[in-house]
Amino acid sequence: MKNFRIKINGPSALRGSVSVSGSKNAALPELAATILSRFPVVLEGVPDIEDIRAMINALQKLGSSVKSEKNRVELSLNEVTTPVVSSDISKTSRASILILGPLLARNGYAKVALPGGCDIGDRRINYHLDGLKKMGAEIDLESDPGYIIASASKLNGVDYLFPGKTVTGTENLMMAAAAAEGETILKNCATEPEISDLAIFLNSMGAEISGIGTEVIKISGKKDFHSTTHSVIPDRIEAGTYLIASCFEGNDLKVENCNPAHLKSLTDILEKAGFLFSIGEKSIFVLKRGSEADIHVDTEPFPGFPTDLQAQLTTLLTQITGKSTIRENIFNNRFRHVIELNKMGADIEISGNKSIINGKTALNGSYVRTTDLRASASLVLAGLVAKGETVIENSFQLFRGYEKIDEKLNSVGAEIVIMRS
Ligand code: EPZ
Repeated sequence: MKNFRIKINGPSALRGSVSVSGSKNAALPELAATILSRFPVVLEGVPDIEDIRAMINALQKLGSSVKSEKNRVELSLNEVTTPVVSSDISKTSRASILILGPLLARNGYAKVALPGGCDIGDRRINYHLDGLKKMGAEIDLESDPGYIIASASKLNGVDYLFPGKTVTGTENLMMAAAAAEGETILKNCATEPEISDLAIFLNSMGAEISGIGTEVIKISGKKDFHSTTHSVIPDRIEAGTYLIASCFEGNDLKVENCNPAHLKSLTDILEKAGFLFSIGEKSIFVLKRGSEADIHVDTEPFPGFPTDLQAQLTTLLTQITGKSTIRENIFNNRFRHVIELNKMGADIEISGNKSIINGKTALNGSYVRTTDLRASASLVLAGLVAKGETVIENSFQLFRGYEKIDEKLNSVGAEIVIMRS
């Protein structure tokens, strides 16, 4: 994806409603799971974003035939022709690691480039590899440095306790176990909604998974999987990003096609600051704004406050009078947006894994640079509030995870222009 910048003229008052797209972090493992079936599988509500295109590209290189129009993707993998995921795929999207489990289970051999650079901190995969080894896989990291070469004549069901919560680790082992021989019990699983949606999708393909949504998932391995059509759940991080946008003074923005229950950790925090929300079955908007509070947040695995909304909430807290803190407990380098926000006039200090946000500070349009997907979203939110013009360098990051974010925001009053360099 050619690099480019976006320019935002602020401040702008957002009025109207935005519709949330399908979940990137549900669609990615579900696309990988189609490797298990020899028959056509349809996913609907797949967001048209860079990380998804990279995953589809990787599947086509394995031998999948893909038909996609708008947000509907039909895939069928009759025969695995090339069981390899190259580094050019895995350097853009770390989610390529999700191919390892299902490809090994289907094909008995998989060669997957180690996932890309860590823009937000250590992104280890030792739990993924330990679990696959316990299921009978040989894991070779030496023969071709930079690649995981996994082989297994067959995978056996296993009783595996995750040493720590891992979203893609839970997903990888669940997919491998779905096609292993015998029973698998996975303990200390992550319980993000995207994992539950993957399990529901796998069951609709013929898998036998129970304990969905809990920390103990049981899987009875199956030999064959069949066709299915599945609608991807709404993206709770995109929804949370737009809900945070609606919280800024002067905005009147409704978030539609979302699951408000997935946003409870965010609304609980904001209600403590005096915000009130109107919650519908698939929509949410701000009834009353808070303006003054010392808010203290810890990022945690679901159902706690998600690390993927940490940067976006930081921007909102710069506009709330008080001394707030956010402790980032999941990743060890996820404050790269702070230096950029401070350039715009924010007053944020970092102390260890805690950010201290002294609000309220006026923000001014500036030339800023983003390093990762959610940091870019926090800078867009800042650009919408700041007085003057903000230019965000390296903005391809934004379009890795937010479908048509410029169009969606411009349709409710933003002034965002993409400047292809
Ligand atoms: C998933 O990443 C999400 N990505 C991330 O979203 C999200 O931030 C993260 O979960 C946490 O919720 C996708 O679902 C594609 P983890 P993942 O394994 O699975 C350590 C976004 O913006 N760990 O749950 O890579 C790890 O180092 C992205 O959409 C091990 O030590 O995250 C980290 O500190 C960013 N060993 C912590 O666990 C392992 O084997 C959580 O990582 C695996 C993880």
